[in-house]
Amino acid sequence: MLSKTMEDALNRQINRELYSSYLYLAMSAYFKAANLDGFAHWMRLQAEEEKVHGMKIYDYVIARGGKVMLQAIEAPKAKWASAGKVFEEVYTHEQKVTGMINTLVELAMKEKDHATFEMLQWFVREQVEEEENASAILVKIRMVGDVPGHLFCLDHELGERK
Ligand code: FEO
Repeated sequence: MLSKTMEDALNRQINRELYSSYLYLAMSAYFKAANLDGFAHWMRLQAEEEKVHGMKIYDYVIARGGKVMLQAIEAPKAKWASAGKVFEEVYTHEQKVTGMINTLVELAMKEKDHATFEMLQWFVREQVEEEENASAILVKIRMVGDVPGHLFCLDHELGERK
């Protein structure tokens, strides 16, 4: 059984994961419109991953006999100045999500909710990867130069994401 505090916090996180999905989908559309199909593909897969993150928590809340309470998803913006600016935002966003996961872990500890603590460990590990991926792509964009003409090879590489 989840405490009301834990249930509310997990429901908020479902919303933030679905917002992440929405944000990355907006970024995918931005790249598609800029003819950077590889970037668009990478971002679309990322959007799908975020939906999976949200659904992991959704399923967990139900498995614990809790109530899923879906809230309105904030609208993401639709325009960025460049590919580098997009990935700066992804990196910052993922750092924020890591902070949210850490806060949830601390709450689970405070509530002595071992099952939720254990479930969240997957997210703790996932966030290491999420930050690393965003930062690695940002470094590459800066290496080649943050202008569309220079991003061709990187676009091809990102298009290979499975
Ligand atoms: Fe669900 Fe990208 O963290």
